[in-house]
Parts: sequence; structure tokens; C-alpha cells
Amino acid sequence: MTRKLFVTTALPYANAPFHIGHMMEYIQADIWVRFQRMQGSEVHFVGADDAHGAPIMIAAEKAGITPQQFVAQVAAGRPQYLNGFHIAFDNWHSTDGPENHALAQDIYRALRANELIDVKTIEQFFDPDKGMFLPDRFIKGECPKCGAADQYGDSCEVCGAVYAPTELKKPYSALSGATPVLKSSDHYFFRLSDPRCVEFLEQWTHTPGRLQPEVLNKIKEWFAKDEDGQGGLGDWDISRDAPYFGIEIPDAPGKYFYVWLDAPIGYLASLKNYFGKKGLDYEAFFADPAVEQIHFIGKDITYFHTLFWPAMLHFSGRKTPDKINVHGFITVNGGQKMSKSRGTGISPLKYLELGMHPEWLRYYIAAKLNSRVEDIDFNPEDFIARVNSDLVGKYINIASRAAGFLTKRFEGRLSADLGVEGRSLLDALRAQRGAITELYEEREYGKALREIMALADKVNEYVDTHKPWELAKHPEQAAVLHDVCSTCIEAFRLLTIYLKPVLPALAEKVEAFLQVAPMSFEDIGRALGAHSIGAYQHLMQRVDAQLLDELLAPPPAPKLVPGGEELAPEIKIDDFTKVDLRIAKIVKAEAVEGSDKLLRLTLDVGEGKTRNVFSGIKSAYKPEDLEGKLTVMVANLAPRKMKFGLSEGMVLAASHADEKANPGIFVLEPFPGAQPGMRVR
Ligand code: MSP
Ligand code: ZN
Repeated sequence: MTRKLFVTTALPYANAPFHIGHMMEYIQADIWVRFQRMQGSEVHFVGADDAHGAPIMIAAEKAGITPQQFVAQVAAGRPQYLNGFHIAFDNWHSTDGPENHALAQDIYRALRANELIDVKTIEQFFDPDKGMFLPDRFIKGECPKCGAADQYGDSCEVCGAVYAPTELKKPYSALSGATPVLKSSDHYFFRLSDPRCVEFLEQWTHTPGRLQPEVLNKIKEWFAKDEDGQGGLGDWDISRDAPYFGIEIPDAPGKYFYVWLDAPIGYLASLKNYFGKKGLDYEAFFADPAVEQIHFIGKDITYFHTLFWPAMLHFSGRKTPDKINVHGFITVNGGQKMSKSRGTGISPLKYLELGMHPEWLRYYIAAKLNSRVEDIDFNPEDFIARVNSDLVGKYINIASRAAGFLTKRFEGRLSADLGVEGRSLLDALRAQRGAITELYEEREYGKALREIMALADKVNEYVDTHKPWELAKHPEQAAVLHDVCSTCIEAFRLLTIYLKPVLPALAEKVEAFLQVAPMSFEDIGRALGAHSIGAYQHLMQRVDAQLLDELLAPPPAPKLVPGGEELAPEIKIDDFTKVDLRIAKIVKAEAVEGSDKLLRLTLDVGEGKTRNVFSGIKSAYKPEDLEGKLTVMVANLAPRKMKFGLSEGMVLAASHADEKANPGIFVLEPFPGAQPGMRVR
């Protein structure tokens, strides 16, 4: 039976590179997708960056670039991880793409037409300096319960209390330090408490096969109301006020969708974008009742995917997900908590840079995974044991033990007969096809690999019984040697098919060695017969424990310089020469109306025309003291549009890391003799 599958993983925030938690999710989904493809199903597997939201907007502002530039930089780093670990997404898109803007607005309009959108006025903290409402994470103050200083707006890290940001004592904005003021504003709500939603979700969540039992139990808690009829599903605030990096709400000037509204719509947007590129019909596909829509997510985002998301889809007249596969978290070395945003312990990129085999990690993670919402732990000793004893020791070794004799003695030609014992061994291997495919289907990868390794044990017993190295000493036993080695190769082929969803690149190498076409589960039922194979080439190394020590070694402690500021990471000379520094003459300097920080500088960089540069040095210099002086500027910086005009470069100045505590800005000036336009190198 060929199925039509639309498969996604959660869309990672585009504010940081991938960590090991992301890779675990992608490996889990990728194995399932590859398995389905090997079963002959049509699978469309897509991902995207989750680009919107206040934290990304603020991080971009800090970096002095637009949010679009910021997320583009993060997106540029994605392929080396995805290709590096053989994650076979058909498409990688962004929630800031045009498809998502259009789809989010369409879905919203449909919900509004269905009378599921309310507008309510709410009061929130507003940063008067920044001119924006503050997300909870950007409000700090003293804990209302224990009085601990510098706690976040939603909960206290010292005593664990949970509260509203308005309850904080001495609140301040983490962005500007200003004291926030309460300000009211209209917010848009999705009426999840509407009886139609509650009824629909009761039925949707209870559909057999859709959710794991423990997920359903959790959801029951969310549905539950207490004796006073309080609790249960609450309405969902889906709007944020400008400035916000997001999608504009139709007919609501200055209002944007909260990032979690448009994020899951990004699944559809990525599929649509992909179908567009392929010339396929997205509308027809998505309307096809045979299509199964399947999401892989982590446990922390269950609420969004099992309540908001199906309700949004259903009440906008769309198909809802068929299955939500929720996984636990990966911890490193004994369950130390891994930060969701920073990650710790293992950097996937460092893993690759150390030359560690990407399929070791795929195998190890698969060996730990099951269909439940359980956390798994990355343990270095365990990793070494599974890779060296099972993957290499039991499986890879079968090929290396048999292939040499076939090449040397039989010109790489397999025996068609294999002998009674050989045939019965292979029958035993083939007999597990149903059980193993069932386990892959159920995401019981750990069990699947145990089954496969039990089969590998059988093959190794067969080798130990028949001792090809002994047979090889007796020329009259040539036919038996031929059967035994051919059986081993045939067995190795079957095991490779079983392992192929987990080890796709290795399977490809095996296909080349066996001189066969790409293998699927159908090929379990076939036999190679008197087929010629190629020369055996080393397929996979054992792990060296030293590599794991290096992988887990903490990054070198940052070097401190006298000023107390960390030294930036080391660069190569090419990195430095990318920055074009020039001597500039300050032709004119003037105050900027409406800004207490900036001066407008007119600079001569020897180009026959002047440049306009805004510089945050007003607190340190009077304009007239600067005019006529020489300084150094970055001359090849992309021009930046500012509120006051275009800034065409940057003037260099020294300052302390914490300017507030240690004020002082010192503009650079060259020794006498330098001329405007000279390069500084
Ligand atoms: N942007 C949201 C998801 C939007 S989906 C429409 C988000 N991003 S995330 O980058 O924080 O997380 C992405 C996925 O990685 C989530 O499924 C999350 O559960 C998963 N993981 C994050 N840390 C993890 C581990 N330590 N272990 C396993 N998966 C974890 O949430
Ligand atoms: Zn507290």
C-alpha cells in the first residue's frame, strides 16, 4: 500500500544554530521518512526556520542589522548540519516567506468569519524609552514572593514562584533599564473556549492513533475545569503591538500576529513553497483525504500542536493533522538540564569537525528512541559500546570477514546455491521483515535495532561455526567456502536493508560494493544469486574514546583582557582584510535633532565626494572640536537606513564594555601625515 505522507519537524527559532536536541528530532523524523520511502510511500518532508517574534527582533537590533538579515544569517548555517547528518528534508523555508504571510492572513480571516476572534483591551507593561510593549522575558524586577533581585517577568528562578509581570517589585525593562509603565491596548483573541472549539478538540484529541496515551492524559488536565467551573481551555491572545517582527493582522493597523500563530502555518507554507518549485498542485494535495499529515515535535510544545493548531485548521475549513509524534528531551551525560536555546554538552558542528561519523550518532540516537515521551541521555561510554560492539563489531564485521575470500578465490562471484544451512539462515533473516517494519512504523527504533542486532548475532554464529578462515586452508572445501561467504554477503545485504533508514549513506556504500541498485524493503524477498560483487572497501571505523573526550571537553575559557571584556573568537587574516578601514577627514560635525546620542559627521574618504555617517559620540565630543580632524572609518560597511537618514559607514572609537558604569568614548585619530582615503591595514 503506498501512502501519501506530509511530514514535518518543529520549526526551530532562527536565533541560534542547531543544538543536539534539534538533531535528535530531525534524526527521529528522518529515519521514519526514509523508512516510509523504502516502503514505496510518497513522502513530502519539510522544515523551515521560525523567524518571527520579539526576541529575534531585539537580537537583530543589538547586532545592528534588520531582523530579515539576522534570520538569513542563521538560515545560512543550516545546511551544514542537515547535510552533515543526512537529514533529507525536501524543502527548508522560512515563516517570513510570502506563502506564510498569505496563509496566516487567510486562516485568520476564516476564523474571524467563523466568529472565533474577539477583541479585548488589556493592560501591559510598556517601555517608555523603547516605545514598545515588553514581552514577559524582557521585564525584570524583584520576586514578589521571596524578594530575589533580577527575576524575569513570569517566574522566579530562586524560589520557583510563578506570577504576572505586573506583580514584580521595582520592575525595570531589560532592554533599556527604564521603569515600565502600564498601558492599555486592544488585543485579538482566538476563542478557544468557544463550545464549538471545546467539542471539536475533545473529539479530535480522542481519535485513536492520533496521540500517544501520555500526551492524551496531559491534554485531559488542560481540558479539566474545577468545581467552580474555572480553568479549562482559555482564549488565546494572538496579537502583538508594533514594533514587532511578524505578519500584519488584516484590518488592524499596527497589530501583528503573535509568533506562535504563524509558526505552525509555516508547515503549510514550506510545503506550498516546495510544491511551487516542483510545479505540483498544493491545493489538490492538501485537499486529498488520503494524505496523512504528521508532525514530529518535542514535549514542550504539545499545547500549541494539539489544541491551537488543529482548532485553527479545522475552523478555517482545512484538514487537520493525522498524527502528532511527541518526543522527550535529550540530555547529556547523566541528565544535566540542557538549555532549550543554548544547548550544552555536545555541539553537532564540533562533532562533525572532529571527523566523527555522522551515522554513529544516527545509530546511537535510534538505539535509544522509542515511541513514548521519554527523555534520553547521551552517555559517552554507552555511545562507544553501541557503536563499537554492535554497529561495527556485529554488523560491519560480517562483510569484512567474507568479502576478501570471495574476491581472492572466486573473482567476486557469489554462489547461487548457498547450502541448506545458509538458506535457512537467510530465511530466518527474511522472516523478521514484518516485525522490523512494524517497529519502524511505530517509531520503536530501539527495539527495531535490537531485533536487527539479534539477527546479526545469528549470522556471526554461523560464521563462527563454519570458520571460513579454516575452510580456506583446504582446497577441497572450496565449494563450501564459496557457499559460506556468499551466505554472509547475502545476510549482510539483508541487514543493510533493515538498517538503511538509520544508516542511509553507509547503505549507499554497501550498494556500490554489492553492485546493486538502491535497495528498498521489497529487496528483502529477492536473492542475489550468482551475482558479482565489487571489491570490499572499508565501510566504517570504530570510535576512539579520545574523540568523545574532545567532543565533551568544555570550550576553552574565554581570555580576559585588562578592560574586563572577553576577547572575540580568533580570526584569520582574511577575516580581517574583509574590513576595509580608511583614513577619513571630518569635514563637518553637527548635532542631530531629536537624538541625544548621535552626531552627524560629513566625512572625506578621498572619493571625490563626501559620506554621511551617524555616530553615537555626542556625549563625548562637541561638534566643533571634531571638525578638521582625521579619524578611521569602516568604509565598506553596508549602508544603514536610520530614523535620521542613511549612514554610510562607521567611525572607530574605544569604550568600556559596560558604558553605563564606565562612561567614556574615545574616537581614533591617526599619527600626523596620514591622508584621507589611505587604507588602514
Ligand atoms: N519555534 C518553536 C517551534 C515552532 S513549531 C511551529 C520552537 N523552537 S525550538 O528551536 O525551541 O525547538 C525546536 C524543537 O526542538 C522543538 O520540538 C523542541 O522540543 C526541540 N528541542 C529543543 N530542545 C530539545 C532537547 N534538548 N531534546 C530534544 N528536543 C528538544 O520551540
Ligand atoms: Zn522568588
